[in-house]
Amino acid sequence: FLASLILTSCRQKQGDKIKVGFSQAMTTDDWRKQMNSAIKIEASLRPEVDLKISDANNNIAKQIEDIERFISNKVDVIIVSPIQSKPLTAVVEKSIKAGIPVLVVDRKIEGENYTAYLGADNIEIGRIAARYIISHSKGSGKIIEITGAKGSSPAYERSLGFSQIISENKRFKIENTIQGDWEGESVKTPLKTILLQNPNVEYIFSQNDRMALSAWETAKTLGVENKIKFIGVDGLNTVNGGIELVKNGVLDGTILYPTGGNEALKLALKMYNKEPIPKNNILNTIVIDQNNAEIIENQMDKVDQQQAVIESQQG
Ligand code: AHR
Repeated sequence: FLASLILTSCRQKQGDKIKVGFSQAMTTDDWRKQMNSAIKIEASLRPEVDLKISDANNNIAKQIEDIERFISNKVDVIIVSPIQSKPLTAVVEKSIKAGIPVLVVDRKIEGENYTAYLGADNIEIGRIAARYIISHSKGSGKIIEITGAKGSSPAYERSLGFSQIISENKRFKIENTIQGDWEGESVKTPLKTILLQNPNVEYIFSQNDRMALSAWETAKTLGVENKIKFIGVDGLNTVNGGIELVKNGVLDGTILYPTGGNEALKLALKMYNKEPIPKNNILNTIVIDQNNAEIIENQMDKVDQQQAVIESQQG
């Protein structure tokens, strides 16, 4: 540890910065905007860090190119939130081979050939959603599940955990699974068809809040939004974020999925300094419902205010 501190300070004396390349999957949604803003704030507190963020715009070929560029520019550490697991695996391995450590955040690659992972436990998030439904249900026990994009690990893992728990309980059934793509638009047409054929649905579990809001809007067009309960994931403290949707009764509950932006930079620097860190760095989660939405909102407001002060000081 001492050696790594000496290394860092020698490097600073030489005027070199620690180059961190962050390959973000896309920045179209508020969850990822918050992740980027948290990592930028953390970097701004450390003048020795030179953080570059590349936005892949949900384009796998671009994300591979972005990481290739970080490798050829010889950055010190790469952070990546992969669009999909399989297609990003080889370029992460290439970085490891080139001696550049890689922190994988939120979505995983295939296999274990990366330095460390950071994110909430997505299998557990699926299980928590299922247990919430089982403990609150007063109706038919018929469920529709709406998944995130195929090939992205949280979609697979949230489904896995959800179906594990639901299948243990005979009163509940996942009647339909809609393959969404994390965005609201992907939900509307298939859900409308299913709801017209299946009027007795009790719960819709959407793997994020944007799709949950879209599910509620779709049900509203059919006049059945008050007969169904909606569960999401993310729990952002933004306009139309999960907390607001719970507070105004659109969602029955949501499960917090922290972005981990600030932790990502801290871990990346530990990796750079060759400090020992766990392979899996799991962020905590919590159910947000009518009982605690306001309390959590107040806590998040305080953090947001502190971040706003830091951002304003950066000019
Ligand atoms: O990878 C997981 C998901 O990515 C978040 O839950 C979501 O909202 C974001 O688009």
